[in-house]
Amino acid sequence: MKTTVFDSQIVELDKHHSDRKGNLSVVERNKDVPFVVKRAYYLYDVPGGESRGGHAHKALWQLIIAVSGSFSVTLDDGKDRREIVLNRPYQGLLVVPGIWRTLNDFSSGSVCLVLASEKYDEHDYIRDYDEFLIFKAIKK
Ligand code: TYD
Repeated sequence: MKTTVFDSQIVELDKHHSDRKGNLSVVERNKDVPFVVKRAYYLYDVPGGESRGGHAHKALWQLIIAVSGSFSVTLDDGKDRREIVLNRPYQGLLVVPGIWRTLNDFSSGSVCLVLASEKYDEHDYIRDYDEFLIFKAIKK
């Protein structure tokens, strides 16, 4: 699969602000995400030094949002790497299929919301980095 880390991008979500009542942000299909959201899940209470992810998906698209606090996402396509800090509830990181991702540096109380294009399917995971390089046709 030929996707690269440069296919993944920050999506600026609409932010509806009220001085008195706070903020509200929206994720809408075809405007903010190019997929139907079939599943949402969230990571929370992640200890400071812990890292999550450490895998790639064959077909899954995701939008990752730091709805509270901050963490960093490292994207890797087998050739290039990008590290992106998420710390704004009105930004999402669109992660295309075929990208190895690792999440770390979770701030205390942070919450990572993930909107996903498919239901949970362990067969869609690549959890071995060598297998990932073969999937990317970088290694035989
Ligand atoms: P995993 O995707 O490996 O977590 P992370 O990459 O964030 O470290 O999932 C952790 C566990 O949760 C694993 O046992 C599978 C389970 N899980 C589900 O049952 N459904 C889901 O939608 C997800 C994302 C995970």
